[in-house]
Parts: sequence; C-alpha cells; structure tokens
Amino acid sequence: MTIEQTINKLRQELNMHNHKYYVENAPDISDFEYDKMLRELQDLEALHPEFQSPNSPTMRVGSDLTNSFRSVKHSFPMLSLSNTYSLEELKEWILKVEQEISNPEYVCELKFDGTAISLSYTNGELQRAVTRGDGEVGDDVTENVRTIRSVPLTLQGEDYPEYFEIRGEIFMPYASFDKLNIEREQQGEQLFANPRNAAAGTLKQQQSQVVAKRGLDCTLYQLAGKNLGFSSHSESLNAARRWGFKVSKHTAVCNDFSQIEEFIKYWDEARHSLDFPTDGIVIKVNRYTDRIALGTTSKAPKWAVAYKFKAEQALTKLLKVSYQVGRTGAITPVANLEPVLLAGTTVKRATLHNADQIAALDLREGDMVYVEKGGEIIPKITGVDISERNPSSEPLQYISHCPECGAELTRYEGEAKHYCPNQSHCRPQIIGRIIHFIRRKAMNIESLGEETIELLFENNLINNVADLYNLKAEQLASLPRLGEKSARNIIQSIASSRDVPFHRVLFALGIRFVGETTAKYLAAHFTSLEAIMTASREELLEAEEVGEKIADSIMDYFADEQNRIIIQRLQSAGLQLHAIKREAASNILEGKSIVISGTFEQYSRDELKALIEIHGGKNLAAVSANTSFLLAGAKIGPSKLQKAQKLGVKIISEQEFLAMITNSKEVNISEEHTDTTKPQQPIQGSLF
Ligand code: IVH
Repeated sequence: MTIEQTINKLRQELNMHNHKYYVENAPDISDFEYDKMLRELQDLEALHPEFQSPNSPTMRVGSDLTNSFRSVKHSFPMLSLSNTYSLEELKEWILKVEQEISNPEYVCELKFDGTAISLSYTNGELQRAVTRGDGEVGDDVTENVRTIRSVPLTLQGEDYPEYFEIRGEIFMPYASFDKLNIEREQQGEQLFANPRNAAAGTLKQQQSQVVAKRGLDCTLYQLAGKNLGFSSHSESLNAARRWGFKVSKHTAVCNDFSQIEEFIKYWDEARHSLDFPTDGIVIKVNRYTDRIALGTTSKAPKWAVAYKFKAEQALTKLLKVSYQVGRTGAITPVANLEPVLLAGTTVKRATLHNADQIAALDLREGDMVYVEKGGEIIPKITGVDISERNPSSEPLQYISHCPECGAELTRYEGEAKHYCPNQSHCRPQIIGRIIHFIRRKAMNIESLGEETIELLFENNLINNVADLYNLKAEQLASLPRLGEKSARNIIQSIASSRDVPFHRVLFALGIRFVGETTAKYLAAHFTSLEAIMTASREELLEAEEVGEKIADSIMDYFADEQNRIIIQRLQSAGLQLHAIKREAASNILEGKSIVISGTFEQYSRDELKALIEIHGGKNLAAVSANTSFLLAGAKIGPSKLQKAQKLGVKIISEQEFLAMITNSKEVNISEEHTDTTKPQQPIQGSLF
C-alpha cells in the first residue's frame, strides 16, 4: 500500500469508529485503540504534509489560529418558526392546515435548545458551516464546527447529492455544560447562564482548539438543496441518517391533533430525562407537495410550527438567604428554600446572583417565591407571591460585612457583585486560592486534595501557596489521617511542581480573570513573570486577549505587597517564572532562515518561533530561495507548500524539527542551571 492509501484507509476507519461512538452511541473499539490509530495517522500526516486534508479526522482537535468568521450569504434563507404556547393555538394551526390540505401527515420532532447551523457538503465532504445570522447572511464557523465529533467530515454511502445543505442545531449536552461552568467558576470567569448561551458562545470562539474541548453536539433536522429527489421530510431524514448525520430518533409521524397532543404530553415529561436541553416540539407537514401548497411568509414557513414548553415553575418558601465567599472574594447570595420538586429534582437552593437582583425582587425572608428551571441548570427565583406575604416582614438587608471574616465588603465600579477585600485573612479565600493552585491544570500537585489543604490550614502549616514549599514530611506524617507514605508522596509531588511550565504557574496564582487561556497568552507575550509585574497598564493591554478588566486585575494583584512577597518566595522555591529555559538553548540553527506554516501537535506556532530563536535561527514569514527549510504542520498553507516545492526548499515536520534541536546538547548551558544528573532536555515542558 502506498502512504497515501494507508492514510486514506486510516481516515476511513477512524471516521467509521467516530460515527459509531458519537452518532450511534455504540463504540466498537476502545478509546485506547482509537487513539492509537489516530496517532498513527497524525504521525503520517506530519511526515507527509502533501497528503494533509482539512477534513481529516486529525483536524477534530482544532487549532490555535484566530478565526475570522467571514460573512456568508445563505443559498437558501434560514427561516425561523412561528411559536405557539398552548394546545388551543396549536389546534387552530392544524385546522388552518387542514383547510388547505386533505389528509396531511405531520412529523413531530424535539425542539433542540441550541443555535442553528447550516452545513454544506460537496461530493460528500464538509465544505462549510454557517450560523443562521439574520437568516440571509451568517458567519462562517467551519473551523469550529469541524471539531464537533458528531458532524461527519466525510459522508457515508454513495447516494448523497453532489451538493446540498443540511440544517440543524448545535447544542451543549448538560454534562458538557456543567463541566464547563465548574471550570469557569474555578477560574473566576463568568458562568454561562444556560446551555444555549454556552453553545452559541462556544461556536464563536476565536480558537477552534477551545471549541474542540467543550463537548458540543449537533443534530440535523432539515435538508436544503435543488432537486434532492425526496418526496417527504421523513424520507429525507432517513437518507441523512444513512449518510452519517446525527438525526434525532425521537420523531413521530402523526395524522391528527390527538396524536400530536400525545407526543407533546409524553415529551413534556420525558424530556427531563434527556441529557441535552429541549424547549419544545416542532410540528412539520411531512409531504413536500403539501409544503409547497401551504407556502411561507417572509419570516417563517406556514407548514411548520413550534410548540414551546412552559418553563418549569414551583412555588416554595424562602427560608433564609445565605452568602458564599469565593476564592476571589466574590460574594454570592444563595436562597435556601423549603425543598420543592421541580423538573424531576428536589430543589433546596437557588442562586440570587447579587444584591441588585434581591432588591429588584424586593425579597423578604419567609416570602413564597417562584423558582424556575428553564434552560438553566441552577434554579433561579423569578418572582414573589405578594398575596402570601407576611405584612410585618422587612425588606432583606444585604450584608455589609463578610460572613466569614467580618471585613467590610466593597463593590468595584461596573461590577454587580460585592467583594470581601480581605484576601490574606479570609478563610474561604485563602483555602480557595490554595485549592486552585494545586489543581491539575495549574500546579498539578495531585496528592494534595481539598481536604488535606483544609487540614494543613487548620493546623497552621499553610496560610498561602508559598508555604507549601516549606512543608516537611515529618510535619505532615504527624497529622491525623496522613501516614508517612502519603506524607512522602505529598512532599514529592510538591517538589515535582517546580517543573510546571510558567504559563501554568501564572494561571495557578489565581489572579482574577486570568484563566488558563489568558495565562498562556500572557506567558507567550511577556515570557517572564517579572516582565508582567513591571508592565504598565498599556503594555498589558498589548497582549492578546487582555482587555481593561484583566489588565486592571493584574495591576491590582501585583500592587499588593503580600502577593509580591509570595511570588518572591515561589521564585526562591525554584518555580518556573520564565517561559523558556534559556539554559537549554543552542546555536544549532545559526544562519538558518525558517518559515513556519500550518498547525502543530506539540507546540503552538509562537512556541516554535521562540524555539527557533533561542536555537539561533531566524523565523521568516515568506518562503524564498534563501529559506533553509519550511517547518510544515497540518493545514499548511497551499501556496507556501507549492512555493517551497518549486524552489526545492526542504520541508520538515514538527518531529524532525524537534529531533534536530534535541540533538544540540553541547552549547550554551548557563552555569546556574547545569544539572548533570538529568539528560539535557532542550525545551520540552518548559514552554507551554
Ligand atoms: S426546523 C424553517 N426543527 O428552532 C424551519 N428547527 O425557533 C427551520 N430548532 O431556527 C427550522 N429544533 O434553530 C427545526 N427540530 C427542529 C428544531 C428547530 C430546534 C430551532 C432552529 C430554528 C428555531 C426556531
């Protein structure tokens, strides 16, 4: 078999397993086997960039290139649906249809609560994915959609039209939504209110590699194209299913109102056990000839209607408002309720967001309140039943002092939340910061869990993150629940955290609004903590993704002397406070001009540029006769590739490049870090 044939075969097999896993929910190989095949394909593609394809299964991981979201005009407008909120209205719609059509057939489907998408396929290959936009013109989000595993990149079978569009909904399953919001909460980032906003927000992410990690899903419900050869909607959905699309199985063909009503009543209940959000039922006339007879208005077809579910509501008693203090000091008021059954779960607590919301509701303890669980996972309070109010009740007074440490709360300009400013002496803030520091995505001090952190804090062994590096095994071994072995493990994993790369140390510090991604950008831009600490506000704003809110928060953080002392101690403890281990550099690339193109597996393009520079090479934008070599990744720009081939410029893969610099041990090892016990690893791990 030629290399190209091997690549094609691997792609085909991976596509098939992907479909089994993400569309059919019936995987037939283990994740391990799948990953092995994928890696094999990745290696082949890296070695043979000439066979790269945007629809290769390896492209599902996305890239760190910035999306541009070009505007694209839809070939067929994307209409919306008219809504009904009652069965009476629905009955009227049915009557209207039946005045025009004899014996109509209806298809009932779930109404997925996400964001609409139009996918186009040419010769069975995903060509473009465009958002609904205003219905006429949408945004090109192809790079992001390619990372959604249930969207087929290459179709199955042979009977698909040469060109067609298919429309559906991109949505975020509850599990992905919960995971995302937990991560955002831990990073001090604003939470998404519901899975719909999370799906829409994710689809417009600048980097497709971020989208790839968010667990979006896509279901398709409408074919669009010329002369597709189907006579009904259900026929077209069956074909789409055959071609590899995820088409909901929760559909029914109905012939009259009572059957439709039955479907609605069933799903109004049963939807609570689905693992993705729905907000209604869509009822569509099935036969295309009937659809043509009914026609459309300028906004919506007359042959379809959406029946919207009522948001689930319950009335219960507000027992008490309590206040939570987060690691950043943000105060969140929480309504403690008399337990009530709502959308299949017992609700005891609801978020109240902030003081403004409490004031807007004129909330009082003892009130009977309406709790709602719409698309949102966390229930919220939407109103008060004033008729049940105790006339002698007093409006709720928002707290003025921290419930944990007693410090006076502050409110920053433009922020809805109150904050406890007592960062260094407020227990949940201290513990929260340390817990954030040890997280897997931060310093990854795995052997220390939340409970141990609390134990160490209670025993006065730690009060801030720098204290971790002064801990001794004997101190730990004498604590309850910890033996000598776990004490040793803890000390060992704290010691190993000294190798954690700079951008993760930066994230671990827990600076408000500096999440994982921002930390990466800051580390790449400034390359050292010192540079960030001494940067002016304007200089901070120059870094990618850093806006005024983040810049101010960074300035505040470093203005605090306590924080500066901690950083000094972390530096003495030997943490990585530089993006690049300069000592690992060489001059192996001296005199070489190198062009980078495409996306890479192990390093981002910025990192590769830094690698070139610290090994003495020059990074240039365009290929010329003087180019020493083209460092080619996946999705390499075709013009660069052609030019290099024409000029006979050598093309090397990421692995070849890394091998080249890995073999350059002899030079430039600075004194202070010469460590003869370890093989000199060039850069691995010291960049993000
Ligand atoms: S059909 C011309 N089917 O609801 C009709 N839409 O409120 C095209 N939606 O923009 C839409 N589930 O984003 C259809 N099973 C379903 C749907 C569905 C969700 C969304 C879609 C549409 C919106 C209208």
